[in-house]
Amino acid sequence: MQGPTPLQGTVRMAGAKNSALKLMAAALMVPGEVILERAPRITDVELMADVLRRLGATVERDGDTLTIDSSGDLQEETPYELVRKMRASIQVLGPLLARLGRARVSMPGGDAIGSRPIDLHLGGLERMGVKFTSQHGYIEGVVQRLKGTRVLLEFPSVGATENLLMAAVLAEGTTVIENAAREPEIQDLATFFQACGARVSGAGTPTIEIEGVEELSPTRHRIIPDRIEAGTFAIGAVASRGDVTLEDMEPIHIELPLQKLEEAGAEVRRSADSVRVRMSSRPRAIDLVTLPYPGFPTDLQPMMMVTLAQAAGSSILTENVFEARFLFVDELNRMGSHIRVEGHHAVIRGVERLSSAPVQVPDIRAGAALVLSGVCAEGVTEVYDGGHIERGYEDFVGKLGSLGADVEVRD
Ligand code: EPZ
Repeated sequence: MQGPTPLQGTVRMAGAKNSALKLMAAALMVPGEVILERAPRITDVELMADVLRRLGATVERDGDTLTIDSSGDLQEETPYELVRKMRASIQVLGPLLARLGRARVSMPGGDAIGSRPIDLHLGGLERMGVKFTSQHGYIEGVVQRLKGTRVLLEFPSVGATENLLMAAVLAEGTTVIENAAREPEIQDLATFFQACGARVSGAGTPTIEIEGVEELSPTRHRIIPDRIEAGTFAIGAVASRGDVTLEDMEPIHIELPLQKLEEAGAEVRRSADSVRVRMSSRPRAIDLVTLPYPGFPTDLQPMMMVTLAQAAGSSILTENVFEARFLFVDELNRMGSHIRVEGHHAVIRGVERLSSAPVQVPDIRAGAALVLSGVCAEGVTEVYDGGHIERGYEDFVGKLGSLGADVEVRD
């Protein structure tokens, strides 16, 4: 891409990747046709569809709508070759144990942002009666019937909260998850289950209560908009000193990122389902820390790094969720930024303008950030391994192009 270009115009948000993947896993628990609307057209959703098909479900796509039918006999195993491509396939663990009383899933490895253990998932499911063994890189779990219980999570893990919530929906008795994650995607999952006849309360708060039911019935569900995509474009407007309106989104879902952009000098106008973000001068330096929701999302940290790399003054960015999420900083320093990493702090001394350079993408979010840095930099930037971005963003290059960016994909 050729820069610098201020992003200008209006862009519509797709459905949330981090909700769609869990709703697809949850559909394994519902006999009959589940219909998911606003399913983003991203490779991770296609990968999850492959996982479900491999388990015995049918998955049809018609535009933005997915129809999933799991009424046939299901398999219990998710093979390594699928799990290694996408960690989120671990989210079928709860649904398989709830539906079949057994599951065999490949142990997910770490990735570019951290070691990513699943001890909280397994610990909580063991408290619900599951016996786990692990062999040859696979975890096997068996249980007569899941039993409701109280689980206090050591950390409000999104994935562990979701796996336990899904397991508890068909368990015997009541489950209480304490120190639960509060992300909007958790609330979306609970709303879906309530529509299927489940008894879930407290989603979005630190304490979720689930009274198990015997069976669920199919439903049609509209997936919430993608707040990380919205945050990416909002931050892109500020980093490129542009003027962007985000449509078909929930402003409240990115309230803290919007406040931090205002602190950096942006003008933000919120309305019921859209936000306008405008930046006419160089950003001010600010400090921020990433935290579980409603704190500043770790998934927007790399884009904020690009903004602060061009700010007037020095900023400190602290990453509290994933220990290795600064890996892409070297790529940004190749573009002329001054960022020094000390443990989980990044000290960023802002420069007037980034300069173009060939860079390598390590993961979805760092990829989007490096493309944004190319939009802001003087000259032509080449971003390698851009395929990561398509895993999490629907038509990212097309949307940037509609905002005036000179970006193209080359094979
Ligand atoms: C989800 O990952 C998202 N992925 C991530 O988005 C997001 O960054 C993360 O939540 C935090 O918001 C999906 O929804 C598919 P966690 P998840 O369990 O569920 C530790 C993106 O780019 N932990 O809340 O894996 C873990 O190592 C992705 O869209 C344990 O120690 O996140 C991490 O440090 C990247 N033991 C922290 O908790 C466990 O059993 C948060 O992880 C589980 C987690």
